[in-house]
Amino acid sequence: MRAFAVAFFLAAPLALFAQHGRYFRDSHHPSIGNPEAIATGTKLFMGSCAGCHGPDGGGGARGPNLVRRSLWHPLSDEAIFQVIRKGVPGTDMPPTKLGDEQTWNLVAFIHALTGPASANPVPGDAAAGKAVYWGAKAGCSSCHAIHGEGGRLGPDLSNIGGSRPLAVIRESVVEPAKDLAYLGNEAATVVLKNGTTLEGAAKNRSNYSLQLVDKQGKLHLLQMRDVKQLTLSESSPMPADYAKRLTKEELRDLLAYLADQDIRKGSK
Ligand code: HEC
Ligand code: HEC
Repeated sequence: MRAFAVAFFLAAPLALFAQHGRYFRDSHHPSIGNPEAIATGTKLFMGSCAGCHGPDGGGGARGPNLVRRSLWHPLSDEAIFQVIRKGVPGTDMPPTKLGDEQTWNLVAFIHALTGPASANPVPGDAAAGKAVYWGAKAGCSSCHAIHGEGGRLGPDLSNIGGSRPLAVIRESVVEPAKDLAYLGNEAATVVLKNGTTLEGAAKNRSNYSLQLVDKQGKLHLLQMRDVKQLTLSESSPMPADYAKRLTKEELRDLLAYLADQDIRKGSK
């Protein structure tokens, strides 16, 4: 048993992750979910806020990730309104002098940021991104399936745009180490008592059994009594170098393609 290197930490944030995209007590202010308000809010955000919070709210050197922060620190729309108006004294978050309507447009944009990527306008060329996705340079399809085509080592991405905010998808691609989805997908090396070594992603694991998907996408159902040693990595099997491997344009277009993957909208 001592050979088990198990990463249980972060179980609580994972539960929070399941409810991402929802602030507490949505206000039903007419600007919330209104495409025109969101479009105006986008422009205001790019001009006044993106420098600190990043263009998709994913965070930057001087401001926190607004999308991820909404998971563990959900704010009502009114509270966001007040933060924008008054700033957060004692921090870099400045007050603004915007009128009510403009401030609500910003709230509408921030609200939308935490919703599924497919529901928001996303920059980039999805058709070009499709070529990046299925091409050899990125190699995404060797591990991920979309509509039944592609590998099985990583999660199915057929509904990734319909289920995750853009900032979360971007983080999964460029910083998989920060991504909570690796829980339940930890890179695993298993040595069996019969001497066989298997490598892949550990999917479902209990004290008695383990499901391992190997790099060829083959599922192995293992009984723990047949396992001599199990080493679970604290990181994902997903390559961590995409921010360098892909150009800025390739990454932008790839994200536009992923944002389009929404099973309710059909395949593209
Ligand atoms: C100079 C950098 C900077 C600028 C510009 C900036 N922010 Fe912030 N913002 C911050 C920092 C830092 C915090 C975190 C404050 C804290 O520690 O509570 C923050 C916090 C916030 C929060 C609260 C997040 C939470 O969950 O508590 C919201 C919402 C927000 N900013 C929106 C905006 C909007 C909208 C704009 C543009 C009008 C903007 N910010 C401009 C730095 C900035
Ligand atoms: C060697 C296999 C491998 C390759 C190649 C790979 N991934 Fe992954 N990916 C994984 C695994 C395993 C996970 C689950 C663990 C994690 O989130 O890091 C994952 C997670 C993800 C997630 C998060 C999924 C979710 O449900 O939140 C996204 C998005 C993603 N990958 C996109 C991509 C894209 C885009 C590429 C190509 C640029 C790519 N991956 C290449 C294995 C891979």
